Amino acid sequence: MNYHLELTVVSENPEQSLLRLTLYSDCEHSLSNWSLQFLFERRIKLASLTHGQIKQVGSFCTITPNNHEIDKNTPYYCEFIVLSPPLRFYDHGIKEALITNLNTNQTLPITLAPITLFNCHTKQANLTPPQAMSVGLIPQPDIIQHLEGDIHLPNPVHISMCTPMAEKALTWLEQEINAVFGIQSQNKEHSDIVFTLNPNLEDEHYKLVVDSGGIQLEANSPSGFVHASATLLQLIKDSHGIFAVPRVKIFDCPRFSYRGLMLDCARHFHSINVIKRLINQLAYYKFNYFHWHLTDDEGWRLEIDAFPQLTQIGAKRGPDSQLEPQLSHLTSIHEGYYTKQEVRDVIAYAAERSITVIPEIDIPGHCRAAIKSLPHLLHDSEDSSAYLSIQNYRDNTLSPSLDGTYVFIDKVLEEVALLFPSPWIHIGGDEVPNGVWKDSQACRHLMLENHYKSISELQGHILSYAENKLKMLGKRMLGWEEVRQGNKVSNDTVVFSWVNENAALASAEQGFDVVLQPAQTTYFDLVQSSNPDEPGSNWAGILTLEKTYHYQPIAQIPQYSPTFQRIWGIQCALWCEHIDDQAKIDYMLFPRLTALAEVCWTSEQQRNWPNYLARLKQHLLLMDKQKIQYRQPWHSDSE
Ligand code: ACM
Repeated sequence: MNYHLELTVVSENPEQSLLRLTLYSDCEHSLSNWSLQFLFERRIKLASLTHGQIKQVGSFCTITPNNHEIDKNTPYYCEFIVLSPPLRFYDHGIKEALITNLNTNQTLPITLAPITLFNCHTKQANLTPPQAMSVGLIPQPDIIQHLEGDIHLPNPVHISMCTPMAEKALTWLEQEINAVFGIQSQNKEHSDIVFTLNPNLEDEHYKLVVDSGGIQLEANSPSGFVHASATLLQLIKDSHGIFAVPRVKIFDCPRFSYRGLMLDCARHFHSINVIKRLINQLAYYKFNYFHWHLTDDEGWRLEIDAFPQLTQIGAKRGPDSQLEPQLSHLTSIHEGYYTKQEVRDVIAYAAERSITVIPEIDIPGHCRAAIKSLPHLLHDSEDSSAYLSIQNYRDNTLSPSLDGTYVFIDKVLEEVALLFPSPWIHIGGDEVPNGVWKDSQACRHLMLENHYKSISELQGHILSYAENKLKMLGKRMLGWEEVRQGNKVSNDTVVFSWVNENAALASAEQGFDVVLQPAQTTYFDLVQSSNPDEPGSNWAGILTLEKTYHYQPIAQIPQYSPTFQRIWGIQCALWCEHIDDQAKIDYMLFPRLTALAEVCWTSEQQRNWPNYLARLKQHLLLMDKQKIQYRQPWHSDSE
């Protein structure tokens, strides 16, 4: 028995498209009482469906046809409107589909054709391969002096340190030269590599000297020693098991003090090994913050002792679960969460690489998994407000008028504050849907009581509660740019701007500290070219390697202005609606992560696109050794 589904864009304009869906059967006997389930992320105008009814919860869609018997000679067909900009990529069609026989509840598989697009962008030419530079160092250091020739790196190599401050960096260096190059290390009096304290250097700064006297790494902070080690690891040349390091003198320091990456582990769960591998790579590129997006509508991923339901229920989605299948895994369970012991392990692993782990608990929107897990605390049965979140949920927002909301916030934040040594905790605050709370008597009452004039002040009400709670726990609150909506959080809260840079500029001008994460230049879930078979989303455009490299943070204001001084730095993000395995993570992150590393670390004067490409060509040899499945940045010489 075989069913086959086709989706075709029939017409489109900038705001909406008309789609036709056709379901074929090759069966002689007909199926009469059935429904069709599929995963599709774009918003469907429900009333527009011809020949049946449709429901959409997030990306999970169900069509129930009007008395349609399907068999070999009678395919089912319907049309519907999608409310979104035109579809330009095959990745944006239906992901998975199945038929349910409603008489037996049996599910039947469907084969899927790629979406037939109405139009696509012209195919983008790949970059021309550059001439490789002999030193493939990324990010480019502040000062680098190339001396004549190489020195030989023996195997085993002797490494020593003159300061305990270098202990973690030394261990990391030993691990990496062994894992990547197969070089053994020994601690001996005479050393090939020496870590030395240099009290004249500032935090994170380092010097690296490679000359006839050996290899000297100097710093005055644990992070400085890690950065020096990262540089050395990138300099090692491997010629069939004979190792050499070019003679250089480097002085290096970061442009921005905050250099982060956010990983979404809620939409798809990533194992501890995947996370550690990524954190290790971040250390190679001198990032110093790992922002862990742990909760969202589609999953709650952190063990909380006070509420085991959050992970028993909220960490699992799929058939016969409280949470419907979303984004992938239509016919099987997708689940996973991190135990506290695993989290401690990740924090320690990151600390060994001078990386701080910042957890994010996203409230009050993006809370569907939590609400479904703890309905007795978080479901407001008296609130009849109708709303639809950006990701098509009608029930994903905490209520400011429920006592349970504050019990939940208190207990979760208490445990999170205890678990994570980071002085900062990210509270989300983004994308609270329009229309929430407006048909709740209790919310109206809360507004009257507090003399609030607008609904958004209720959002501020919850967030300022969280800010104070965190303060009492000795932590500072971070939040997406919407944390300022409702005007209730103090200047102690740090604003992460993401829609573009406007909120960053406005917030910095009003005295907030800011981290820049503009989607257009830092969201690595965006497609990397205009080719229709490129994976990724495109709501904020196409993010090529070149565009990533050329990102000029807040270019319109002088770097030494007080406003610019409030910019802590830059963070990139990997949202994982489409990303559920190592190969996809690698393809989306590499090599764009290296381009952004240079935006974060390297002074503007030292940034140079052709020079970066020449270094990248050499650098890819290291990624090959590390088995990183990066996106090939240029066409092959034979093309
Ligand atoms: C976000 O992309 N919603 C922070």
